Amino acid sequence: MMFEEFVEFIGSQDGAPPKALDPNAPAPSAIIGAGVPRIDGPLKTTGSARYASDYNFPGLVYAVPVRATIASGKIRSIDSNSAEAMRGVLLVMHHGNIMPLYRNASGGRNSESRPPFEDETVYYWGQYVAAVVAETFQQAQAAAAAVKVDYEPDKFSVERSLSDSLSAEGEPGGPRVMSNRGDTESAFASAPVQVDETYITPVETHNPMEMHATVAVWDGQKYTLYESSQGVMNHQTVLSQVLGEPKENVEVISRFIGSGFGGKLFPWTHSAIAAAASRKLNRPVKFTLSRSMMFTNSGHRPNTQQRMRLGATPDGKLVSLQQDYRNHTSYGDDIRENCGEATPFLYSTTNLKVTSALVRRNVGTPTPMRGPGAVPGLFALESAMDELAIKLKKDPVELRISLDTLIDEENNRPFSSRHLKECLQLGAENFGWSRRTPEVGSMRKGDLILGWGVAAASWGANRGTCDATVSLRADGTARVSCGTQDIGTGSYTVIAQVVSDKTGIPVDKIDVVLGDSSLPPGPTSGGSTATATFVPAVIDGTNAAVKVVLTVASSVKGSPFLKGDDPPPLAITAGRVHVKGESPASGVPFGDILHMANLASARGDGKSGGLRADPKAQNFSTHSFGAQFVEIEWDPGIARLRVSRVVSVVDGGRIINMRTATNQMAGAIVMGVGMGLFEETIYDPRNGHPINDNFADYIVPTIADTPQIDVHFLDIPDPLLNEYGARGIGEIGLAGIAPAITAAVYHATGVRVRELPVRIEDLLKANAVA
Ligand code: MOS
Repeated sequence: MMFEEFVEFIGSQDGAPPKALDPNAPAPSAIIGAGVPRIDGPLKTTGSARYASDYNFPGLVYAVPVRATIASGKIRSIDSNSAEAMRGVLLVMHHGNIMPLYRNASGGRNSESRPPFEDETVYYWGQYVAAVVAETFQQAQAAAAAVKVDYEPDKFSVERSLSDSLSAEGEPGGPRVMSNRGDTESAFASAPVQVDETYITPVETHNPMEMHATVAVWDGQKYTLYESSQGVMNHQTVLSQVLGEPKENVEVISRFIGSGFGGKLFPWTHSAIAAAASRKLNRPVKFTLSRSMMFTNSGHRPNTQQRMRLGATPDGKLVSLQQDYRNHTSYGDDIRENCGEATPFLYSTTNLKVTSALVRRNVGTPTPMRGPGAVPGLFALESAMDELAIKLKKDPVELRISLDTLIDEENNRPFSSRHLKECLQLGAENFGWSRRTPEVGSMRKGDLILGWGVAAASWGANRGTCDATVSLRADGTARVSCGTQDIGTGSYTVIAQVVSDKTGIPVDKIDVVLGDSSLPPGPTSGGSTATATFVPAVIDGTNAAVKVVLTVASSVKGSPFLKGDDPPPLAITAGRVHVKGESPASGVPFGDILHMANLASARGDGKSGGLRADPKAQNFSTHSFGAQFVEIEWDPGIARLRVSRVVSVVDGGRIINMRTATNQMAGAIVMGVGMGLFEETIYDPRNGHPINDNFADYIVPTIADTPQIDVHFLDIPDPLLNEYGARGIGEIGLAGIAPAITAAVYHATGVRVRELPVRIEDLLKANAVA
């Protein structure tokens, strides 16, 4: 399943539209949109927030894997005798002695379809072939190094170029038409202006600060798994199948997560290894990935090769758009990177075709990485648009605005809310675009040459199913619980703001409980869908709890609102129950009402339903949009390239927390600088080892590489998604950065970089221009 199919699946669950989609709902209070500081901030800054590997229990032992040193072949034998004899070693686990572990075909999504140690085949360098469990981490590490594995190596490929001959159409991985309308080939052939170029993006590796970890506790009946997971409910669903246990015997806990970028969406094999070891030894087991393992055993963004053909009339009408792309995948899993995610609807054109194909490599299984498909796809589409603008001698902002459409031409549906044009206009204004002179190398700042580039961005908007329980408590506080999680983006805080909006209870009196699969089922933090999904459920639950309080206030003995047969309509404002239309000061704190009735709390169970199953949504196309403007500085004297300034404008519906949202966009810009200038996982052709599997050699941007950042939100509600009109913003901020960087590089140097990342070697060719 492609990640986008998973996102679509999120939106298709359960037909019940959320009750909170009420057209008469009151306008939200000022707390919706406010820059409320993270309510979990103090826990993090004082070190008291516990991440997966922070959990320790009496008798805890450590698992360290043995990793394959070949990229393809068979394990002939594993000699663990000397490892087993080493001090502190409890167990060496491998294919020959691990308890049965199973595949999953029962909903949810796993990362790799193969459970760990399923057979003796090696598909990629670094694959776990055994695991040592010992009393201390150091003992386990030493013993893992002493396990001798004899391999029968086979030929393999980690080749970067994807120009292989393809499998036949219809075969797994074979070419597939993703989108097709009109007659693209002939429209292109007769187009007076043509762009026909191939764009390449490399393998990128997720590098969240917190590495993956599992602490597995088997108590004789049930597993408790402390994880760093973007989806505790999905993790529970999958691991219960892999371990062969009923769901209630697997509890997954992720209270705090040091980010994920998609690498933590679905379970990886270390989780099952830790669980199996815990069961076998009857001891809690901790398995932490090293940074090197993060490069082989927990996914990556696959490389892509995309041929783009654009045909236009001299006045800038787009008459044909074709994208033929390939991405690599592993042996064992067909991961199709949906590079055409945004292609069919971003610009108006009658003739359009998108095709996709897979090429197998001996690498670990790829997985979604922030903006999967769309981000590499938009690098190609937006680069090609920039090249088209140059051929047409048109301003790239103007060209995009002239091709804007408010109808999704893929399915002939209007967008629920599309403001790409406004993003481009506001961005141009804030960036100062009107001062741009289009000639290559024409803008100077002292010895530096400036380059200015722009790109548009898009990412889907969706809503899934969610339950949430809200309790208003007699002590005047509230508690809200939901089986979603906060991966660092601000979900804890946003949920508190929603309860506060509906009750007036201050956020510091609201406990938000997330990150446990035993809570009411909540969404995966993925596909930029979590906020739009949990907001209606939290509103619904809060409204239900308030209703209980108001009913009690109208009926309980001693209540000032007990006015015989005709009680006045009541409301709750600033945490006080009062007669509707009168001042809250005239009312009573809701806690006092609960005390009068001897109630510990008033509870409301809330629900939200999937967007695609929502009749109101049938006739709309739902997406977020954005525009990103980049300035680069090229110093030809010392061949130095810097991204100096970025303006990002995002149309992501109503923003609930301006501070966490702005912060997320700023982070995406920094990540985009990495994608544009630095990031690439390089596989050693001799053995398939990603040789830069560490922070010294895999370059990510640091503060010194960070440009001046200016983030704007249009903040236009999309009421189709939920009462506030909030969409999600996890991915949209990254989508246009890399193509805007290469457009700016071209503007400064005259060198068109079509293969990321931009290398200084590419630009040395520019010195002639300079
Ligand atoms: Mo994102 S790739 O959905 O974590």
